[in-house]
Amino acid sequence: MEHLISSQDMARFVASGFLRYDHMVPEDLCHACREEMTSFGGYRPVGTPFEETWPKDGALGELFRLPKVAGLIHSLVGPDPLYDHHAAHLVKARTMRGPNTHQDSVIDFRKNYFDIQLSFFPVDTPDEMGGTFIVPGSHFRNVRTGEINAYQHVLGKTWATCPAGTFYVWNTRLWHGARSNHTDQDRYMFKLRLNPTQPQVGHFDMSALDDPEIPRILNTRHGWEGNEMRYELMKRVELWRYVSAQPDYDIGERFMRRREYQPQLADDQRG
Ligand SMILES: [Fe+2]
Repeated sequence: MEHLISSQDMARFVASGFLRYDHMVPEDLCHACREEMTSFGGYRPVGTPFEETWPKDGALGELFRLPKVAGLIHSLVGPDPLYDHHAAHLVKARTMRGPNTHQDSVIDFRKNYFDIQLSFFPVDTPDEMGGTFIVPGSHFRNVRTGEINAYQHVLGKTWATCPAGTFYVWNTRLWHGARSNHTDQDRYMFKLRLNPTQPQVGHFDMSALDDPEIPRILNTRHGWEGNEMRYELMKRVELWRYVSAQPDYDIGERFMRRREYQPQLADDQRG
């Protein structure tokens, strides 16, 4: 598999819950996808093998088989993922959106496993057109879908202002929502959710696991964490241990020890 994401990008995904890749898709294919997206086509059955979901001869079928896109998907969910659902999200021209912060996965409490969502922007999406907003690093905060919709100005919130052909890929649990479209053009964003079929361990390019940049990436402060930063960092280290197959990974001066040291066990070992 080519075009696997780097170890550093995987650490960014763990810390922030999303990655952004510009210029993933050639202009003519962006245009063809935009045309095809106007016909939704209906949901496929949840759990259909992703490979069988879109035929190779369609624009979207071609999109998902671009080596860079295939490498991105493989890096995060591994081989043979399953289709969950898709949507061609439309925010019509001159549509104002009120508070709508939410989390898609209301009942997903699996440890380590995570679904991904791909957000593809087939046309230039300037600031005034909206673009999905996200709250980076919020994917360890399980809430009940729209329970958080009153939160509008979370520190660190960012949104997709991007050129045509941009892909965002994000952990399904990331807090997000749609923004207003102040332009005279409809805005489309194609969303696709995928499920892994096996443990999400070591599917990315693991050649740079020892890069000293990685603990700094895991320590990223997005703005909203405040005093909860230590808690967030623990969750990130746990997930990083899992995806990178390093069960004893730690940062700083044995940061995780406070939680993992158990006097009783140490006593038993001393015999
Ligand atoms: Fe959503």
